Amino acid sequence: MQHPINAPILYIDDLNVWYGKNHVLKNLTFDVFPRQVTSFIGPSKCGKTALVRCFNRLNDLKSDFRYTGKIQFNGVDLYASNVNVTEIARKIGMVFHKPIPFRKSIYDNVAYTARLRGIKQSLQLDTIVEDCLRAVQLWDEVRNDLHAYPEILTIGQQQQLCIARALAGNPEILIFDEPCEQLDATETPKLEATVQRLKSQYSLIFVTNKRRQAARVSDIAGFLYNGELIEFGQTEHLFTNPKNKLTEDYVTGRLG
Ligand SMILES: Nc1ncnc2c1ncn2[C@@H]1O[C@H](COP(=O)(O)OP(=O)(O)OP(=O)(O)O)[C@@H](O)[C@H]1O
Ligand SMILES: [Mg+2]
Repeated sequence: MQHPINAPILYIDDLNVWYGKNHVLKNLTFDVFPRQVTSFIGPSKCGKTALVRCFNRLNDLKSDFRYTGKIQFNGVDLYASNVNVTEIARKIGMVFHKPIPFRKSIYDNVAYTARLRGIKQSLQLDTIVEDCLRAVQLWDEVRNDLHAYPEILTIGQQQQLCIARALAGNPEILIFDEPCEQLDATETPKLEATVQRLKSQYSLIFVTNKRRQAARVSDIAGFLYNGELIEFGQTEHLFTNPKNKLTEDYVTGRLG
């Protein structure tokens, strides 16, 4: 069942995050709605990665992580004691700045996440692998090399493979943290096109330090500065008619 489009899939209320004594996110309040691309922009170290790592509980890996406030996923406290963290990692997939395919065949990279949700039947796995590779427009390029290792792929293809692997988990949210960082000028538009195609089915969160990329790919944008969410709203407004002077300075390139 698809998530109702008018209810937030993520609800963040007065979120504060610390890494040890470093207060990295300050009083953040916003909603993320499904079937949209929500981007977060801002200078290096402003807290973009720290924020998105709250959404799939990756921050739990840091022993000095602490937060206050509310983080709800589909109306449920994401940090409740009965939440299954492995399940969250599947439902809220993440694509990192550097593609990290597993040391497995191209087929098994994608099938891995489907197997995690209990799918064992080989015909069903074949279908999922093909569908997910088609969704990232990689199928035609790899259909004859499914049992080869991902090393034969370009970095851009490896990144698309990592997206396909996340899709095989049947996620609700996909987070991209500067996914084009290692990609070249021909690969970046392909990844942006994939993001556009996926938004009819998923909720997408896109972190980038490239202002124009956020303007191209996102419907909603948030500008973070020193751990504060300075402005959050329609991407078009944020770029063409920002309410805040700091936002204006950032989107026009005068700041960081
Ligand atoms: N592993 C870590 N241990 C301690 N502090 C960290 C760690 N990673 C990030 N920080 C701190 O958290 C704050 C937010 O960093 P974060 O990585 O979220 O910024 P960012 O906006 O993603 O930056 P970038 O554009 O460089 O990726 C910074 O003060 C940073 O120094
Ligand atoms: Mg980062």
